[in-house]
This record gives sequence, structure tokens and C-alpha cells, in this order.
Amino acid sequence: MVGWRLVRVKGRPVVVVLISTCVADPEPVQDFCVAVVPRAGDAAASPAYPGFPCKPASTVVSDDFFFAGLAVAGNTDNRFGFNATLGNVEAFPGLNTLGVSINRGDFAPGGLNALHSHPRAAELVHVVAGRILVGFVSTAGRFYSKVLGEGESFVIPRGMIHFQYNVGDVAARAITAFNSQLPGVVAAAPSLFGSDPEIPDAVLAENFQVDVKIIKLIKSEF
Ligand SMILES: *[C@@H]1O[C@H](CO)[C@@H](O)[C@H](O)[C@H]1NC(C)=O
Repeated sequence: MVGWRLVRVKGRPVVVVLISTCVADPEPVQDFCVAVVPRAGDAAASPAYPGFPCKPASTVVSDDFFFAGLAVAGNTDNRFGFNATLGNVEAFPGLNTLGVSINRGDFAPGGLNALHSHPRAAELVHVVAGRILVGFVSTAGRFYSKVLGEGESFVIPRGMIHFQYNVGDVAARAITAFNSQLPGVVAAAPSLFGSDPEIPDAVLAENFQVDVKIIKLIKSEF
């Protein structure tokens, strides 16, 4: 975004140009940087700024830019009737430093991608099959939502808490695209009721203005 202001410096008017960027991930400084993604549990498993280290360019092959992970449906036989298959940089190392990623969401009838937010990316939701209710809440507390049919899309601004819910009678499927190679997920209920170590019951009881018993009951689910 570019804007300008007229300000006075020592009595003279000066135009100041304001440039504010809205990029989720840093700009790449080379064509590509296929990630050497450390195995989970390795000391170096956390991505470094601005991403993972690069595989030597001379060893990069076409398959480094290819990902078949979203061709297979996730198993939705779980309590939420939902499965997300992730196509982020950890699964698809060719995305490293490119600032984009893609997921697949499979929904059983009534399946829910439970309330969560992505701290590092806006999300485009594109429904490929079925009917999905998508909604988010803005910082002003306003709820924006839409039932999407096949071929329709909805955008969730970065950081907003949101969900996707299969409101059709049959299985549904969505492809979601992000402007980050690693959007991150803050899962609302598990963050509040299933953190390690736990948020004290008294804090949650006062926060939600309910009895501690109710907090314990919810915690038992997460
Ligand atoms: C999602 O699907 C994959 C592939 O079938 C499976 O391995 C995984 O356990 C599923 N996750 C959940 C939460 O059901």
C-alpha cells in the first residue's frame, strides 16, 4: 500500500511517501531454494528466517517442484469428521521462500474444521465438492460467513478466527491456499483447554464466567 502526506519541515511543505507492505513471508532472494527440511525432533527442526536452508541448486530436479500429497483423500473417520492434508513447506520443500502453500480439506457429512486461526497467512477457501459453511470473526466482533457450493471461493483475512462446516448431506472437499509457506495454526479449543502445561482452571472459569466444573468438563475433551 502506498500513501502520501504533506508535512512541514522548517516551515517548508514536504511530501512524504508512506509505503507499507503487507507480505506474510519475506521476499525470496533467488529463483528457488528447495528446502532441506529437518526431520521432526532434530535440533534444527525450527525453520530459520526466512525459511529452511536450501538444497544445492545443482542437485534440484523437476520433482522438487512437484507435490502429489493432495491427490489422496484424508480419512474423516474421527470425532470432527474432518481431515486436513497439509501442503506446506514441511510437506512440499519446493515451497521454501516462495510464500505460498496449499491444503486439502475433506469433510464427512456434518464434518467440522474446528475454530482456528493462521497467524502468518490469509486463506483462500475453494470448494471442490459439496456445500461448506465458511465463517470468520473480525477484530470488531463481526461474523462474516457464506455457504459455498462447488467452484465457489471465500477469503479469510490473516489471523482471523474461522471455521469450515459441511452443511450438505454428502462428503465435501475444499482446497485452501495461503500466502505463507508455513501459515501456522492456532486451534482455539485445544489452545485454551488443552495447552501443556494447562491454563489454570480459575483463569478459564473467570474468563468464561462459568463454574470451574464446566472448565474441567471441557478440558477432559482436549
Ligand atoms: C487424516 O488422514 C490421514 C490419511 O488417511 C491419516 O493418516 C490421519 O490419521 C488422519 N487424521 C485424522 C485426524 O483423522
